[in-house]
Amino acid sequence: MTRFDGRVVLVTGAASGIGRATAQRFGAEKGKVVCVDINLAGAEETAASIRAAGGEAKAVACDVSNPAQVKATVDGAVAQYGRLDVLCNVAGIGGFQRTTEVTFEQWSRFIGVNLTGQFLMCQAAIPHILKTVGAIVNVGSVAGLKSHPYSAAYCASKGGVVLMTKALAVEYGRKGLRINVVCPGGVETPLINEFQLPEGVSQAALSRISPIGRMGQPPEVAGTIAFLASDDATYINGAAIVVDGGMIA
Ligand SMILES: NC(=O)c1ccc[n+]([C@@H]2O[C@H](COP(=O)([O-])OP(=O)(O)OC[C@H]3O[C@@H](n4cnc5c(N)ncnc54)[C@H](O)[C@@H]3O)[C@@H](O)[C@H]2O)c1
Repeated sequence: MTRFDGRVVLVTGAASGIGRATAQRFGAEKGKVVCVDINLAGAEETAASIRAAGGEAKAVACDVSNPAQVKATVDGAVAQYGRLDVLCNVAGIGGFQRTTEVTFEQWSRFIGVNLTGQFLMCQAAIPHILKTVGAIVNVGSVAGLKSHPYSAAYCASKGGVVLMTKALAVEYGRKGLRINVVCPGGVETPLINEFQLPEGVSQAALSRISPIGRMGQPPEVAGTIAFLASDDATYINGAAIVVDGGMIA
């Protein structure tokens, strides 16, 4: 497929996991991909893998929770490629913690990266994507739709992403800009290593696993993100699409 031929796609969290698979998917579909991550070496690796497969990509270092870096990243992409068609907000952090042990700094970092980071990226990108009548795909989580123990900050950040997406979708829908959110369940990426239960808590505290009987793989989420960003999804706006193998069904 060449659904993104001639289009410029910015993917955050592109150094690893779902973000890397998403960047590679857009690259394979002929998009020009701006691979953004706080981990520049990882983003460079992703961009190199896209170029090695015959696509076009560049890497940019950016902490999505930093307003100045976000604006410079988006403006830099538009200055280089002349346009921006798609923004995918994939960057995120995770982890379990007893609520009484969460420091103010930890709470602020969860909200700053997972929620404010996506808002800042949308704010910077929207004026450009309005010109190309493109699309934004945010990444939430099933933890933004249902409760998870030991995850108050993560759930709050991802629940915020879901409603922020819907608010933006109704604000900009009439102008042709579509904004959707993908909510993955358990996906095999480095992030899941950060989700270690607090000491003394049994695995039984967690909700059931996917009825499909395995974890998801990053390309399975990337395919949904690419679909939502494409012209195959022109009547999907403000939707939270669950990609969890039926875990919360
Ligand atoms: N893996 C899962 O099971 C799962 C489930 C639900 C939702 N998600 C969400 O999917 C998204 C991607 O997660 P993943 O599993 O691929 O994790 P990952 O750890 O493999 O990738 C996350 C990427 O985000 C980057 N990042 C972190 N903080 C950043 C910052 N401040 N600025 C820029 N980049 C930053 C990291 O460097 C990393 O490359 C996250 O938003 C996560 O919450 C993952």
